[in-house]
Amino acid sequence: ATAYAADLVVFGGTGDLSMRKLLPALYHCDRDGRLSPETRIIAMSRGGLTDDDFRGKVDAGVRRQVPADDPDGWRRFLGRLHHVSVDVGRRAGGDDTDLPGWSALAALLAGQEERDRVFYLASPPRTFGPFCRELAAAGLVTPRSRVVLEKPLGHDLVSARRINDEVGAIFDERQIFRIDHYLGKETVQNLLVLRFANAFLEPIWNSLWIDHVQITVAETVGTPGRRGYYDHAGALRDMVQNHLLQLLCMTAMEPPARNDREAIRDEKVKVLQSLLPITGTEADRFTVRGQYTEAAGMPGYLHEPGSTPPTEASRRVETFAAIRAEIRNWRWAGVPFYLRTGKRLPRRTSEIVVQFKDVPHSIFPGGTPNRLVLRLQPEEGIELHIMAKEPGAGEVALKPVPLSLSFGETFTARVPEAYERLLTDVLAANPTLFMRRDEVEAAWRWIDPILAAWESSADLPEPYPAGSTGPAGAHELLGRSGRAWHEEE
Ligand code: BG6
Repeated sequence: ATAYAADLVVFGGTGDLSMRKLLPALYHCDRDGRLSPETRIIAMSRGGLTDDDFRGKVDAGVRRQVPADDPDGWRRFLGRLHHVSVDVGRRAGGDDTDLPGWSALAALLAGQEERDRVFYLASPPRTFGPFCRELAAAGLVTPRSRVVLEKPLGHDLVSARRINDEVGAIFDERQIFRIDHYLGKETVQNLLVLRFANAFLEPIWNSLWIDHVQITVAETVGTPGRRGYYDHAGALRDMVQNHLLQLLCMTAMEPPARNDREAIRDEKVKVLQSLLPITGTEADRFTVRGQYTEAAGMPGYLHEPGSTPPTEASRRVETFAAIRAEIRNWRWAGVPFYLRTGKRLPRRTSEIVVQFKDVPHSIFPGGTPNRLVLRLQPEEGIELHIMAKEPGAGEVALKPVPLSLSFGETFTARVPEAYERLLTDVLAANPTLFMRRDEVEAAWRWIDPILAAWESSADLPEPYPAGSTGPAGAHELLGRSGRAWHEEE
């Protein structure tokens, strides 16, 4: 597809997300010919940098994250970069001082109304509404403009609605791109292909054949330097409300009639709306929260170096969450979906495990039920565990063996990072992999009562040692129905 000339304005443009994810992804888009030669990348920050300072910063901080084999291409990429200083935090806080940054941005964009214009808000959610208003007041919102919102989109349903209203007052829903970077991961898109471009899975993708589903996003990292954010977030808001629920939707949705932006998102919303609410004391039975403590040379959550010292609120924050979810519809009635995520776990793995039921009638001793593992991280792959006969002339002995697809070995092309796919889609105005307003709100509607139950509980999160597999409660959550988490062998 032809790439149109675009101006991509990144708020928080010198921040962590920009330096670690957005700029490397944009470099790859450039390298692959997916940016028009005239496309500009304009970082907005408080930094007081000139264009050259910013280019120097990117050269020092981003270059080592990308292949070094094309120095000319890298120079061309640096040439696209601009910086505009604006004390966005102050203005968003209601300070009316005239801020020259907005006029500097307006000057840079003047006369470029025919280009695509993307405002990427990689800034805290409280700034989304004020920034959109500023952009409109400065006359910068054109019919070809789009706005990209990074997560977290609010901290509960009410605040999410407010943000959606504020942004919606300036931009049409079709111009609003709410990012969940998990949707940009190759395996997540591949899940739709696996389910809907193959005939053999769909007939058994239901409660008749499937015992339960496990969705795990385990991280080894802690939260150093993130206390300011994480104390107000916790695993439920940071990971479950968005990433894990999106994985659940992709796994559980009905086949859409078309590969089309609204058709796919319509099916996802239906899944979210079918989730059985977990309220009040049910939270004790169906949810588990944990917080890591010092172990194996790693600090506990309360002692992670952070920008601010721990408070009473820090003690209540969950760095681990596990939930037994249920989808009330014909396909999934009675099939538990176990969700689990946590920081400082022993291995970085993200996977969806579909656990099939046992054979209806076994004629061999010792079989175990089939299991399909969709691995997102660290290496993307798909494994179907099937029963095979161990070679030998004696009694038939069964052994589960994997039919295994490694993307890295099967496809030699480089696997793009999630942000490359998503930025490409924003530039092409394709919102399929972005969350629609009703989707975000349906997710919060299910999360809110769990948050409320946790907040009103006298208990603190269950401690688990850093580097362990999480609190004992998470194992009991499955154990009491005779199930167990799939751990990598
Ligand atoms: C982010 C969360 O959305 O996702 C982080 O805010 C988390 O806490 C990250 O570490 C995980 O993303 P990935 O792509 O590394 O699995």
